[in-house]
Amino acid sequence: MQESRHVAVIDFGSQYTQLIVRRVRELGYLAKLHAIEDFPEIGSPGAIILSGGPRSTSEPDAPDLDFAALRAFGVPVLGVCYGMQLLNIKFGGTVEASDRREYGPAALHPVEAAGLFEGVPEASQVWMSHSDTVGVLPAGSRVLAANQHGTPVSLQWDQRFFGIQFHPEVTHSHDGLRILHNFLLQAERLAAFRIDDLKRELIDGIRATVGGRQVVCGVSGGVDSTVLAVLLHEAGVNMRAIFVDHGLMRKDEGDEVRSNFHRMSVPIETVDASERFLAALDGVDDPEKKREIIGNQFVDVFWDAVGDAELLAQGTLYPDVIESASNAKSKASKIKTHHNRVGRILELQAQGKVLEPLADLFKDEVRALGTSLGIPHDILHRHPFPGPGLAVRCPGVVTPDRLHIIRECDAVFIGKLREHGWYDRVWQAYAALVPVKTVGVKGDERSYEWAVALRAVISDDAMTADWVELPAQLLRETSHRILNEVKGVNRVLYDISTKPPASIEWE
Ligand code: XMP
Repeated sequence: MQESRHVAVIDFGSQYTQLIVRRVRELGYLAKLHAIEDFPEIGSPGAIILSGGPRSTSEPDAPDLDFAALRAFGVPVLGVCYGMQLLNIKFGGTVEASDRREYGPAALHPVEAAGLFEGVPEASQVWMSHSDTVGVLPAGSRVLAANQHGTPVSLQWDQRFFGIQFHPEVTHSHDGLRILHNFLLQAERLAAFRIDDLKRELIDGIRATVGGRQVVCGVSGGVDSTVLAVLLHEAGVNMRAIFVDHGLMRKDEGDEVRSNFHRMSVPIETVDASERFLAALDGVDDPEKKREIIGNQFVDVFWDAVGDAELLAQGTLYPDVIESASNAKSKASKIKTHHNRVGRILELQAQGKVLEPLADLFKDEVRALGTSLGIPHDILHRHPFPGPGLAVRCPGVVTPDRLHIIRECDAVFIGKLREHGWYDRVWQAYAALVPVKTVGVKGDERSYEWAVALRAVISDDAMTADWVELPAQLLRETSHRILNEVKGVNRVLYDISTKPPASIEWE
């Protein structure tokens, strides 16, 4: 068998490391993430990328690697941020600590638009996130690019060793993908990334992890858990897929989910736990408390339903992990606790009872995997729906009346998007309750009722999002139907907030 000449990404703990892996896959090459502790046991890579990291090379126990072993691979190496600083030291140069952190955009000035910077325009924006910079440059090194102040931000030390101070993996580095591509062109015989290979790898991994144990898979009907259930089914493990109706679903969601699984011939069981969830949420208005309650209820309901299950499978994706700051290596700050990252789950995880085969992937990759598993297009392209359901679209307390309002408004809005051919053109759309009563006139009478906000966004991976300029006619028809048909609403708003600073959901 031919060796897989993968791109080895060595993780020094940056919050963007997984993004490097993803970008390399996007460029069509097989990439694998390796913990620094595993180095140099990383197989036979065709290229190596050293990631950034939160530490400073001057700290006494700063992460280090065996330089002789790195050279012995004889393949191109790219050091990113911390990786570049480390390489500069290894080649005999120095790194200087700075008390000022450079964070944000900078202009890149390549010395030559060739090699690493082939096709990269002058002053292209790059994204910086560091406090140390290279100091003394070792003899024989070359500066490949500088920033707007003339500070070197890209170096080459010998034929195969390159460094860049900025993060090419984030979209704010406008030519980052091109720079990564240019680097990978220096490598030979790199293995291609194919989604079918990933599928096989995941299935093999699942079989090896599960062994003879029973797995309970929570199914919400969303893309992630659906792909996960089909993957487990395909792996042939002892699995029970359970759909928990927490009473926070959209209109007719339960029926739709059951019928979709029927179409795919994957058996699922339904547990109606709506009363239990609503009772637990009674009177709670704090967004983080709601998420905690819902996450813990999910676990309790599963365990009640399956008693002695030995493994809980979740369709957790990478953005859930990074935003909840629950990755042991991540120094990212916590934005919100995704329902699959609450305390109880983390306890189970520590006991080795949580299986999350999709945790390194992003949504679009999961969709591609789903296609490779033969999941129908309409199921894979349903809009994402958050685990805590309508609760995070209902700021303040969650009551059956409020849920009824957003469920009805949501159904009208989604129906209109489909009717106007916009459903597949937006990433996600929904109606949220604005828990404010305002005055209006209905049939010559004063009304004093709630407002609802419509939100439609486009996004690549849910990490950032933009609001969608929907046609006025679509919005007009939606508003007209809501105001006429949904009792308790006398005002419809359209949410024009980007993420960041807003998030996609309201809570
Ligand atoms: P935010 O609101 O964080 O949402 O910008 C990003 C994407 O994640 C979904 N979302 C969740 N999905 N459990 C999930 O499975 C959660 O707790 C959760 N919170 C948000 C959200 O719908 C959007 O697609």
